[in-house]
Amino acid sequence: MDKIKVTGGGPLTGTIPISGAKNAALPLMIASLLTDETLVLENVPRLRDVRQLTALLTDLGVDYTLCGRRIGQDALTGQTIKLNAGSVISTTASYDLVSKMRASFWVIGPLLARFGQAKVSLPGGCAIGTRPVDFFIEGLEALGAVIDVDAGYVIATAPDGLTGGTYRCPRVSVGATHTLMMAATLAKGITVLENAAREPEVADLAICLTEMGARIRGAGTDRIEIEGVERLTGTTHAVLPDRIETGTYAMAVAMAGGDVLLENARADLLREPIEVLGRAGVTLTATNQGVRVQRNGAGIRAVDMETEPFPGFPTDLQAQFMALMTRASGTSEISETIFENRFMHVQELTRLGARIRLDGQKAFVEGVDTLKGAPVMATDLRASVSLVIAGLVAEGETVVNRVYHLDRGFEQLEVKLGACGAAIERIAS
Ligand code: UD1
Repeated sequence: MDKIKVTGGGPLTGTIPISGAKNAALPLMIASLLTDETLVLENVPRLRDVRQLTALLTDLGVDYTLCGRRIGQDALTGQTIKLNAGSVISTTASYDLVSKMRASFWVIGPLLARFGQAKVSLPGGCAIGTRPVDFFIEGLEALGAVIDVDAGYVIATAPDGLTGGTYRCPRVSVGATHTLMMAATLAKGITVLENAAREPEVADLAICLTEMGARIRGAGTDRIEIEGVERLTGTTHAVLPDRIETGTYAMAVAMAGGDVLLENARADLLREPIEVLGRAGVTLTATNQGVRVQRNGAGIRAVDMETEPFPGFPTDLQAQFMALMTRASGTSEISETIFENRFMHVQELTRLGARIRLDGQKAFVEGVDTLKGAPVMATDLRASVSLVIAGLVAEGETVVNRVYHLDRGFEQLEVKLGACGAAIERIAS
């Protein structure tokens, strides 16, 4: 498996193009199952998770076309794909395909809504917690589905189609909101989703669904109302920029110091992280081309942070922020409120010399003057990238093993950071 080698060094300067959001691209691709017409998606990131979902969709019978390069596009520009679910041959998503990526489970909503049946493997365990699917099941039942769980599969049927209903999610779930919103577009009557996720990726999916003919109000708020329609059509939609990738590179620049333009990034998707980073001594400014990050001279201040559903601080930036705080002056208290086991990076950051004490869902990070490079390994995507961030300032070499995880969610990380002066390389094995 490939490794990434980072040698701690000086500040970062230059431009990093921000890719389309992985967490928007995945549900948008799944939305193609709702129509027999072609859905064209632009600005799709070149990521392992995208390829993984493509494998599942094509297994169901969806035709997939990757469009060729166009004038002005380069290796870091998002790709355009076409998906056509006009000849679906299967409504079963197998364990082999679903267990590799949890978001695959979301196909259950569109399959059930359009074909009246779906058999989807339970996603199984995951490095960042148990991550059950109870809200999906309760929500689909509220839309009239009959659901059985047997031999590791969720078997859902609605022979006469789904009917609108009201579902209040016990806690905010991005996946359940995406799935139920998609399912409700083809249900008879009106569906109301209460305590819905307000994440920008939910709003992006709603924009695309609306372009496909769906009737949706309130996406981006905690109450979404969907009036079902008979059928949806194809459309062309560009994936919104990745706010997690943006925040990750902002933390990298904050850590190493320097001045970098995060091209195509949208500051309005990152209000809370920008505010928290500002308190830590990092300046982020919205410009016409994206977001500019600067930290010159002054050190990093310790700041407390708690993860929350959007618009709060995203759990997907918690590990990266913790890496930054390992070098702050003072002690930072970091609380993880979304996932119960999302501190896997703590042990590895400690191997680099960080001082971190864990107490349940809280981490107390006492800033140190120096980190020292070491071989490290991470078991999830965001944890892996936090080790790269720490490696940018650690003395000597940090070798991050299992780059597999990084490739799931970061497009050409070593190329993007390398172009700004980081001493980073991929070691193929
Ligand atoms: C999505 C994101 C992931 C992000 C997470 C939280 C994608 C592809 N993934 O994951 O990057 O970290 O949102 O912002 O967009 N829960 C239940 N029962 C359920 C569903 C969820 O208890 O049926 C719990 C989860 O265990 C977790 C919390 O609800 O504690 C939030 O999870 P959820 O928002 O559903 O995360 P994902 O959609 O899987």
